[in-house]
Amino acid sequence: MWGLPQGIPQTQKGILQKQIVDPMTNTSLFVVGLFACLAWAGLLSANEPLLGDTERGRRVFDQSGGCSCHTNYSKEGRNAPVLAGGRALSTPFGIYYSTNITPDLETGIGRMSDAEFITAMQEGIAPDGQNYFPIFPYTSFTGMSDQDLVDLRAYLSTLPPVKRVNKPADVMPPFSWRWGVSLWKWLNFKAGRWQPDPSRSEIWNRGDYLVNSPSHCGECHTPRDWTGGLDRSMWLAGSSDGPEGELAPNITSDSKTGIGSWHLRDLIWFLETGFKPDGDDTQGLMSEMIEHGYAKLPQADLEAIATYLKSVPPIDHRVQAHSSE
Ligand code: HEC
Repeated sequence: MWGLPQGIPQTQKGILQKQIVDPMTNTSLFVVGLFACLAWAGLLSANEPLLGDTERGRRVFDQSGGCSCHTNYSKEGRNAPVLAGGRALSTPFGIYYSTNITPDLETGIGRMSDAEFITAMQEGIAPDGQNYFPIFPYTSFTGMSDQDLVDLRAYLSTLPPVKRVNKPADVMPPFSWRWGVSLWKWLNFKAGRWQPDPSRSEIWNRGDYLVNSPSHCGECHTPRDWTGGLDRSMWLAGSSDGPEGELAPNITSDSKTGIGSWHLRDLIWFLETGFKPDGDDTQGLMSEMIEHGYAKLPQADLEAIATYLKSVPPIDHRVQAHSSE
C-alpha cells in the first residue's frame, strides 16, 4: 500500500518497509479494534429498542399543538372524535384530508411499529413504502429525536381508537400522485435531526428545536413557492396560504409587519391563552393548536419558544389576501 521510492536496494527496502510498516501495523490494529468496539456498541444500541414514555409523550403531543389538524374541530365542533382525521386542509393545489392517527387497528395507526412511526415522521414515508403528501409537515418533524417520537407514539397509543376510514385527497394530478412527491422531496426536503448551535444559550436552542421541529410553526407561518416548498429566505414571515385558506401572520421581529413590538411576556401569554397584546383573540387552527397543545406546555418550554422567536431577524413582509400578494 505504501509506495517505496524506486531504486532502493531490496535489503534497504526491507528495512525501510519494516520501519514504515511496523508502527503502522500497530496503529492499524488499534484502529481496527476501535472500529470493532464502536460497531459492537452501535449494534447493541441499534438492537436495543427505545422505550416510549407516555408522560413524556404527552408533552411532545402538547409541543406539536395537540396534532390538531387530525381532529375535525372545524366541521364537527367540540365533539369531533379526537385524532380520527377527515379534516379538510385546503391548499392552492386542492384539498387534502388529515388522516386517522388513533390506535384503531383497521383505520388508524394501531398496526404501525415504532420504527415505522419514526420513518413516517422523519422521512415522510408510509409503512408500504409510499410517500406521504407534504401537507403532512415532515419537513419540520424530521428534526425530532427518535426518543421524542417513540414517547409521542406511546402517548398516542393510550388514546381511544376510533373507526373512521381515511378520505382520499381531492386534488388534481400531478399533485395527487404519490410518486411525484419524490420530485417534490428532492426539491424541498432534507431529512435530518435538529442540531444545537453551541454558540447560543441552552434556552435559545430549546426554542429553536421546538419552533422548528415538533411545534412546526414555520409550516404555516412561512410562505411557499410555486412548488409548495417553504421559502426559507422568508422564514416565519407570514403566508397568504395558511391552513384552511387562512392568512398566517408574519411572526418575525419586524416591528411594522411582524410581532417586533410584542414583549417576551406577550408571546408567552399568547401561547397560553390565544390573546394578543391588543386584547384581540386568535381564531381558527392557531387557537386550536393553543388550546389543545401549546397552552399546556410548561413555562420553560413557552419561554424557550418566545426567546427563540424574539431572536428571529425581522423581515418586512405584509401578508395579504392571496390575490393581492
Ligand atoms: C397549523 C398552522 C399554524 C401553526 C403550526 C402555527 N400557527 Fe400561529 N397562526 C396561524 C394562523 C392561521 C394564525 C392567524 C389566526 C387568526 O387570524 O386569528 C396564527 C397566528 C399566530 C400569531 C398572532 C400573530 C399576529 O400578528 O396576530 C402568533 C404570534 C403565532 N401564530 C405564533 C405561532 C407560533 C409561535 C407557533 C409555533 C409554536 C405557531 N404560531 C404555529 C397558523 C399556525
